[in-house]
Amino acid sequence: METRVLPFDEEAIAEAARLILAGEPVAVATETVYGLAADATNAEAVARIYEAKGRPSFNPLIIHIPDLPAAEYIGEFNEDAHALAAQHWPGPLTLVVPLRERAGIASLVTAGLPTVGLRVPAHPAMQALLRAAGRPLAAPSANASGSISPTRAEHVSKGLGGRIPLIIDAGPSERGLESTIVAATSNSLRLLRPGPISVDAREEGGSRIEAPGQLASHYSPSKPLRFNAGQAGDDEYMIGFGAISGVANLSPAGDLLEAAARLFDLLHQADTSPKSRIAVARVPDEGLGVAINDRLRRAAA
Ligand code: TXA
Ligand code: MG
Repeated sequence: METRVLPFDEEAIAEAARLILAGEPVAVATETVYGLAADATNAEAVARIYEAKGRPSFNPLIIHIPDLPAAEYIGEFNEDAHALAAQHWPGPLTLVVPLRERAGIASLVTAGLPTVGLRVPAHPAMQALLRAAGRPLAAPSANASGSISPTRAEHVSKGLGGRIPLIIDAGPSERGLESTIVAATSNSLRLLRPGPISVDAREEGGSRIEAPGQLASHYSPSKPLRFNAGQAGDDEYMIGFGAISGVANLSPAGDLLEAAARLFDLLHQADTSPKSRIAVARVPDEGLGVAINDRLRRAAA
């Protein structure tokens, strides 16, 4: 795939919005770091973020929205969250709040969690894209897995060139540091990731915060799970893949993008079924299958 780099202007944003609505991820400048944005209501578009980054695991992603009302449509804001949003948005603050079901956010965005990370960015390029696309945009930093966050379009080209269709270049990021993340999911605020904005919140984890994603309690089904399964036992809810069928199938065609997009929906479905256990067919350990198997391995542990 050829990666175009367009300077930020009206035409570039129109093209980026067209790609987003077609389910493609697009890299765009924000005030913190460059983000790799995709339609948060389109599970396969979100799976393409993971495919492009080559990330071997699923982490909940931050959703970007143009303003506070759009954020409140997706998440539930308590008084503390509301006050922080009013004070710091638009800006480099991400709030983790309870997710509203009706918002239609793909379960892959939150990695199956009942909470969601929301941010109203200040940067005019990301703001323009949000308004032109008219969709909430899931966007992690636009780097390949394992490399540092990009603060220039050239960094994005170097890491993701050939893997994404478009980069919107708006010069170097002003902050150069990822947003502060604060969870407002209980009575007290918790700092999940320090960043450009200082917030009076309890620090998470006690020691050093290295990988905030690892600290987020990850969604796992409540029932015992077995993977690489050939067929289901009587007490098992079978999730198939390809030719190995089940009550549900991650992708009858054996398509890993589709499987990634459906993974958390089907795990939730299995979890709420009357069966006491879950079995999942073998998924090839390549491409997005690596992240899928990582999730299944943890769920089985
Ligand atoms: O500045 C930023 O925040 C940049 C720009 C592009 O907006 N984005 C960014 O995204 O840094 P990413 O995916 O690289 O980091 C998102 C972090 C992850 O560590 C993830 O675990 C955490 O946010 N996160 C997202 N949703 C969460 C949730 N529901 N619960 C806990 N942590 C969450
Ligand atoms: Mg990152």
